Amino acid sequence: MSDPSIAFAKPELPATGALVVLLAEDLVLPPTAAALDEKTGGALARAIAKSAFKAKGFAALDVLAPAGCDLDRVLLIGLGKFGDLVEKDWLKLGGVVAGKLADAKATAATLLLERADGEAIVPERAADVALGVRMRAWTFDRYKSKKKDEDAPKDLALTLALADHSAAKKLWKARVEPVSDGVALTRELICEPANVLGTEDFTKRCEKLEKLGVEVEVLGEKELKKAGWNALLGVAQGSKRPPRVVIMRWNGGTEGEAPIAFVGKGVVFDSGGISIKPAAGMEDMKGDMGGAAVVTGLIHALAARKAAVNVVGAIGLVENMPDAGAQRPGDIVTSLSGQTIEVINTDAEGRLVLCDVLWHVKEAVKPAAIVDLATLTGAILVALGKLNAGLFCNDDTLAERLTSSGLVTGETVWRMPLSTDYDKLIDSTWADMKNTGGRDAGSVTAAQFLKRFVGDVPWAHLDIAGTAMGSPKTDLNAAWTSGWGVRLLDRLVADHYEK
Ligand code: BES
Ligand code: MN
Ligand code: ZN
Repeated sequence: MSDPSIAFAKPELPATGALVVLLAEDLVLPPTAAALDEKTGGALARAIAKSAFKAKGFAALDVLAPAGCDLDRVLLIGLGKFGDLVEKDWLKLGGVVAGKLADAKATAATLLLERADGEAIVPERAADVALGVRMRAWTFDRYKSKKKDEDAPKDLALTLALADHSAAKKLWKARVEPVSDGVALTRELICEPANVLGTEDFTKRCEKLEKLGVEVEVLGEKELKKAGWNALLGVAQGSKRPPRVVIMRWNGGTEGEAPIAFVGKGVVFDSGGISIKPAAGMEDMKGDMGGAAVVTGLIHALAARKAAVNVVGAIGLVENMPDAGAQRPGDIVTSLSGQTIEVINTDAEGRLVLCDVLWHVKEAVKPAAIVDLATLTGAILVALGKLNAGLFCNDDTLAERLTSSGLVTGETVWRMPLSTDYDKLIDSTWADMKNTGGRDAGSVTAAQFLKRFVGDVPWAHLDIAGTAMGSPKTDLNAAWTSGWGVRLLDRLVADHYEK
């Protein structure tokens, strides 16, 4: 399904299409639905009474074509106790409704955001529902030539009906739709295949953010060589695609205030290089720019909602390929920081890209804090699966903030250790450090490597190899990637860095 159109209106019975009604455990119909029940000679009450429907846990009862009106269906959704619902439940409600309406091939629907107990559903919750709808409806079908078939899901026009509809619309437009668009951008960047989205193509997508008032600085190969970004350049040298570093600045805060920086791994394709990966599943490595995609989607969201904060997004874009010019295991590179690195495994390339970007951000941006995101290690998938991102952090306050923001948005993180004993595992005989610490604690040694490039800046590293792609299908996500992280970081900024 393509993007549903979402409108806000006051609660009224629609003449046609589908009507969605929310029910609490007591099964009492809210006023507008009660009026419909009367009009239909009690069709809704009868359906509830004759079914095993329990109005909780997002259970649905689909009442088809009730007599006495021209509606296609009335979809009752059970929400248990309204008082128990938190923000992410309302998001989930949007997802559930979008899923049911898509299954029903509905093209027009009204979602009645009305409670039987007379309490109003506030605009914030309506905007959450709208976000849930948009997230669930998102698919990536650009390359499916049959998408215009009869059977393909049709576009949905959805009206959210609530008392304070004008405030809900305002909030949606100004604050939440931008985040929804940011998530969609991240998902799209991750889904695009690497032949379409190379380093230069990705750069062009970033430059589009200029329209929102974002300053976009692009560093090309010449500049990177001149300044000595040799760790990053070493990864790129086996590919025809030239490296790019893109620095996006949103200056919505006070002038001169140190920004919060987000850094992303942007390996547009990771073949492993000379330490080439096995064939099975290698196609997924088109998503190895997931960290950069989250940073780009986040900057989109923050700029589009005119966040009152100074933010920098910095991404390193390279392709890791094994041509005749490729870097070899055993090569020693001098990173931008001056620290030397022995390349043991060319497939541990993400940290080589990030270390130069992190160092540059620390030196040139002087940020208040850095959060980096990277599809960095397969080991984090072994440790945490797809349900938590690995969090590595040198600052307890920042770690706590990320953890609690994740709990609110449902994009959870799990803190992993850092210590001098783990750090020793990447010491090298030949250089200052080596780029792998062996199989044991693979995600930790990768994080220790990054830590050597951030100095004393409060810094968090999110290993999103498990959460960025190959995402589980949920009520909020029917696609290969959920766009994990955009909402979490938007929340982090809103709650802790925005004035
Ligand atoms: N991009 C991969 C990590 C990855 C694996 C992301 C699975 C998403 C899903 C990364 O560049 C990589 O290859 N890491 C190696 C490191 C190893 C060679 C030390 C890994 O995890 O095997
Ligand atoms: Mn790799
Ligand atoms: Zn990689």
